[in-house]
Amino acid sequence: MLLSVAAVLLLLSCTSGENPAIQVLLTNKGLQYGKHAGTDWIQRNLEGVTLPDFSGHFTWLHLFKIGFTLTGTRIKKCDLPEPSTEFYPDSTGFKTSLSGLSVALSGEWSTSFMRLRDGGTFDMAVFGVDVTSVVKLGTDAGGHLSVTSVSCDARVVRVDVNIRGGTRRTFPYFVREFRSGIRRQIEIGICPHVKEYIGNLEQHLEAINVFFDVDQALSLDLALTTLPVVSVSSLNLGLKGEFYNIKTHAEPPFEAPSFTVPEQQGYMFSVGLSDFTVNSALYGYYSAGVFRTLINDSVIPPGFPLHLNTSLMGPYIPQLPKMFPGLLMNLRVSATEVPVSSFQPDSVKLSFHGAVEAFAIQPNATETPLFELSVVSNFSSKVWTAGERVKGSASMDNFTLTLVGSNVGPFKTDALEKVARIGVEMVLAKVNETLGEGILLPGLGYAQLVDSVLKVHEGFVVLLSDAEVLTDRGFSSHTDRAE
Ligand SMILES: *[C@@H]1O[C@H](CO)[C@@H](O)[C@H](O)[C@H]1NC(C)=O
Ligand SMILES: *[C@@H]1O[C@H](CO)[C@@H](O)[C@H](O)[C@H]1NC(C)=O
Ligand SMILES: *[C@@H]1O[C@H](CO)[C@@H](O)[C@H](O)[C@H]1NC(C)=O
Ligand SMILES: *[C@@H]1O[C@H](CO)[C@@H](O)[C@H](O)[C@H]1NC(C)=O
Ligand SMILES: *[C@@H]1O[C@H](CO)[C@@H](O)[C@H](O)[C@H]1NC(C)=O
Ligand SMILES: *[C@@H]1O[C@H](CO)[C@@H](O)[C@H](O)[C@H]1NC(C)=O
Repeated sequence: MLLSVAAVLLLLSCTSGENPAIQVLLTNKGLQYGKHAGTDWIQRNLEGVTLPDFSGHFTWLHLFKIGFTLTGTRIKKCDLPEPSTEFYPDSTGFKTSLSGLSVALSGEWSTSFMRLRDGGTFDMAVFGVDVTSVVKLGTDAGGHLSVTSVSCDARVVRVDVNIRGGTRRTFPYFVREFRSGIRRQIEIGICPHVKEYIGNLEQHLEAINVFFDVDQALSLDLALTTLPVVSVSSLNLGLKGEFYNIKTHAEPPFEAPSFTVPEQQGYMFSVGLSDFTVNSALYGYYSAGVFRTLINDSVIPPGFPLHLNTSLMGPYIPQLPKMFPGLLMNLRVSATEVPVSSFQPDSVKLSFHGAVEAFAIQPNATETPLFELSVVSNFSSKVWTAGERVKGSASMDNFTLTLVGSNVGPFKTDALEKVARIGVEMVLAKVNETLGEGILLPGLGYAQLVDSVLKVHEGFVVLLSDAEVLTDRGFSSHTDRAE
């Protein structure tokens, strides 16, 4: 068990360094929006929050250590100024500074000195909290994004405390010492909390699934293959973006080429996808035998000019009705090469090489091979975005049928090619219809994509988009749009 885990980790670490086939680029606009939405959310959720218990001690008369605990500390009011967040190439991460935060708190205090206990309530106002945190982004062995705290610095300008209750024993000392000491105690306490928060975030990132099954034939690997790249204006994450045959997990005989997603600061983020990703899926499907189908007469629509009955094949293969009269036929269609997709400026091309084997079905159900054709066909499609959907249209560029073998003697394929082309066009019209309806862009959970644009470049496609945090799902956004 441990060995297999180690082997997988080794495998993943070996594969890293390959060109990523998917790149996610976050711009400064995206960073600022994310920060704004996050600040807004924190602000809305801060009031009424109960802070963890806080313990400390002070020294009375330079001799006696008196412990104190603040419990049930609630935030009564908090004016959260918008922090500043920037890409920080120095540490391959972000730098966030919060300055001038003020918080009003209330809660209960208690002190203990030997066996003497004392307690009461307090109101506290903390002024001028400044926090600067620098985090570093990286990758872990499993290909997840990792985040670690590089530095944290906290300052508190002033704390006002109003203390009530308590007996006369330690109370006066407590108040005096507490007032002078609590500012420093809070200052010291902030960064461990920031680090704990970053640690929690890291645990969430570690738990994200980056390798999953797509359907019965394919799985998708979205592990990071390169270290995050941070510049002053963007963050670039390179994901593997490769589909695999679930059973064989075989690597395709081609590699992911490198590509550069153009930085467009007008959009919050861009996702670039290489045609390698599509081709790895085609390879996975091909090796899983998905591109193989049987066509019989019952799937051919009644009005269609061709029927899979040897007696009706005269217009296409004159000798067939005489040689095998009155038999139904089966066509076995399969890809003979891995279909290849290529992204070209403003269009997506697909080329298909296949074989069609024709059989006559004897009354005793044995199949008698008749002939074999080779099919070469090229398709083009256009893709675009409409709202939250990616839509497209497809058309056939070229379709040729050639006879490669025959048990019924030679025949011209022109008439068959013509009718087959009509058949493919009919299927394509259905595909066109489905593409026209579009597929929903993958959701982001708490956010939806807005103003998305899809651009096809040589070798890759880029989705440029803004995102909008959904107010009705627990988050809030600054542009409270009317629904
Ligand atoms: C014809 O093909 C369809 C779909 O492949 C299949 O469901 C059906 O049973 C076949 N009919 C005959 C008579 O073989
Ligand atoms: C094939 O077509 C011929 C001529 O129309 C017809 O007589 C025959 O019944 C058909 N065969 C089958 C199996 O449908
Ligand atoms: C079909 O597509 C392939 C690959 O894109 C290309 O090399 C070939 O020239 C195309 N053929 C025709 C007839 O368009
Ligand atoms: C089925 O029928 C064909 C043609 O009549 C014949 O050649 C073949 O031997 C038969 N097969 C079996 C298993 O009976
Ligand atoms: C398809 O390709 C063949 C040669 O590969 C060419 O002669 C024919 O004109 C092409 N047809 C179309 C519709 O492009
Ligand atoms: C597919 O739809 C586009 C427009 O969306 C149209 O131009 C094209 O002719 C259609 N192709 C087929 C095969 O229906």
